[in-house]
Amino acid sequence: MSVLVIGSGGREHALAWALAQEDRTTTPFCAPGNPGIASVATCLPCSPLDFDALAGEAVRREIALTIVGPEAPLAAGLVDAFAARGLRAFGPTRGAAAIESSKIFMKSLCRRYEIPTAQARTFSNVVPALAYIRQADRPLVVKADGLAAGKGVVMARSADEAAAAVEAMMAGRRFGDAGARVVVEEWLEGREVSVFGLSDGTHVAPLLPARDYKRLLDGDRGPNTGSMGGYAPAPAVDDAMLGRITDEVLEPAIWAMAQEGRPYRGVLFAGLMLTAAGPRVLEFNARFGDPEAQLLMPLLASGLRDAAEAALAGRVDRWTPRWHPGYTLCVTLCAAGYPERPRRGMPIDGIEAAQALPGVLVFHAGTAMRDGRLVVSGGRVLNVVAMGQTLEDARDRAYRAAALINFEGKTIRRDIGSDETVTHDVAHDVREVTQA
Ligand code: AMP
Ligand code: GLY
Repeated sequence: MSVLVIGSGGREHALAWALAQEDRTTTPFCAPGNPGIASVATCLPCSPLDFDALAGEAVRREIALTIVGPEAPLAAGLVDAFAARGLRAFGPTRGAAAIESSKIFMKSLCRRYEIPTAQARTFSNVVPALAYIRQADRPLVVKADGLAAGKGVVMARSADEAAAAVEAMMAGRRFGDAGARVVVEEWLEGREVSVFGLSDGTHVAPLLPARDYKRLLDGDRGPNTGSMGGYAPAPAVDDAMLGRITDEVLEPAIWAMAQEGRPYRGVLFAGLMLTAAGPRVLEFNARFGDPEAQLLMPLLASGLRDAAEAALAGRVDRWTPRWHPGYTLCVTLCAAGYPERPRRGMPIDGIEAAQALPGVLVFHAGTAMRDGRLVVSGGRVLNVVAMGQTLEDARDRAYRAAALINFEGKTIRRDIGSDETVTHDVAHDVREVTQA
């Protein structure tokens, strides 16, 4: 019985790749997919938001399990629509996906259930929001309430910047209705990490922590993007910290959602800042991260399907993931002009050479076929992921592979994984010394 993946980016390529690896007898389906996904799955030309068409395909092709990649179909109720037709889909219902699709809901949940997060105020009118910003007089973060494709967050060093963001979102409707209400919160300092929990609505099991690089330029400068790369597991989250995050964030969030009558089944993604005072939630997402899925799938030895089945069957308390040893590191190749105005249409060369390097996978994020040639069709074009015994190994391989791929205007960050080198080497040396 087949599995269907919903979506068309690098994350969905990694999910479909994992399913194809796990079961070499059944080809997965993907809707709508992309040219890279087409090498591991049968692509179906359906929009992720056309639930009637998707359900029709699921019935016709006897699909036993559907795995939803992006947030938009979750927030629009794909899992509910499938359930109403007796179809099994892995991911939260529309009500449970509100943990991502409404920042105001998320903030209220954290406040009521004492889940640690940045202190925040929410506003539905411009005037009180501006008054608050003027008297706060410190760096603030302004967030549109609704989904804005990762772009609805403005880090404001000054009151003027915060005020401009509020005006653009609320009065200028920069993100449409998503910005009709805003959250204004304290700017937290620390290391940012992504931690995922697999949940069946009652129990939750943590996955490996990952580090995602959102800023465009080396040294974490420039605008926020959909992501320039990352690595896993993140040494900044050791076992003790992962235990703390599970106890203080993941478990309370799953309990809170059940109390609210929105039991959460699926992958709960906590974007966290490790501050001096402890972990603080920056955001919850209702899905796997992108590129965190590209980092975790090659490491997950116990299988994606097994994880989804455990969540759907309510037995996450008896599910323990097995992981391959080592690290994965992702360098995202982006189009010129990303994130504001990515240029499209340039031909891409060198993917085969990159993939031929041992331990290297190339996931397609924004590619298309034009006149028989692979071309750039989105801001994030390819995720080059390398596995290595150490983070440095993985980084060297990923950058060697990334150098083999060419398209006009190729844009990458050069420092993915560099900030961890010292921490990692020290930990590694200490372990070796202890064992000697
Ligand atoms: P979000 O979509 O809420 O995760 O925000 C996007 C990015 O903005 C996060 O990944 C952080 O890098 C940054 N960010 C969000 N909220 C805060 C905050 N309160 N303090 C510092 N950085 C933040
Ligand atoms: N990597 C961040 C996200 O998927 O939202």
